[in-house]
Amino acid sequence: MSSTIPLCDPVACVAAGCDAVVCTGKGVPSNDRLFERTTRAIPGGVNSSIRAFKAVGGRPYVVARGEGAHVYDVEGRRYIDLVQSYGAVILGHAHPTITTALAKAAVDGTSFGAPTPREMKLAEAISERVPSCERVRLMNSGTEATSTVVRLARGLTGRKKIIIFDGNFHGATDALLAAGGSGVATLGLPGTAGVPEEAVANTIVAPYNVVPEIDDTVAAVIVEPVAANMGVVAPVPGLPRRACPRATRSRTFPSSHE
Ligand SMILES: Cc1ncc(COP(=O)(O)O)c(C=O)c1O
Repeated sequence: MSSTIPLCDPVACVAAGCDAVVCTGKGVPSNDRLFERTTRAIPGGVNSSIRAFKAVGGRPYVVARGEGAHVYDVEGRRYIDLVQSYGAVILGHAHPTITTALAKAAVDGTSFGAPTPREMKLAEAISERVPSCERVRLMNSGTEATSTVVRLARGLTGRKKIIIFDGNFHGATDALLAAGGSGVATLGLPGTAGVPEEAVANTIVAPYNVVPEIDDTVAAVIVEPVAANMGVVAPVPGLPRRACPRATRSRTFPSSHE
């Protein structure tokens, strides 16, 4: 069967024995060339704006594969991978137990519009290991999770205000794309073009590492327990734990991720 997916380079890929469907990056072994080409197809060359290299500088590497604690770029260079897909591959890349299970499951189809026994078992396993997760709703992205948290908290409490911390990032959901920065908790301003003032009118941005005032107008307090989107900034000891009782007293939803 001939593939409708094009090779990266019809001549070099064939010469390198590269597969068009499952690309191994052997045909165009140049980080610069591939990234430059990616930016023409994908804005910023990344599929989540927070991963954009523009913000941090440096020359992006293009990953060909990962194995355990390492990733290899298309030029064959090996890196210790401190990112680990932002936590998603916590057991390391391509762990044999996982790849074997994935290959076995894929034969039965990969996505359905109906419940499956496998998702039930995963939810039960999470609840068993994390007692506070009495029930589980699985999401596809962090953005989907945080926008759901905001809606859930507002719906349950009947309140509108959300407290976030300056420098924390919670995905591309309008209410959480607010900027602060004056050193005290303030109502947020749009953090980026395209977010109207109304969308962040109920978002309070507090300085990171200061337990904020939480009253009964606040639906949720959302925090990165260890801030990792402004470099890595350790929390003052017990920040989430100290914010939680305050939140609980005013019946506010505490939420932390990653
Ligand atoms: C703490 C935190 N929450 C949410 C998100 C958004 O996740 P996603 O890119 O999967 O929407 C990120 C992304 O970097 C994050 O760091």
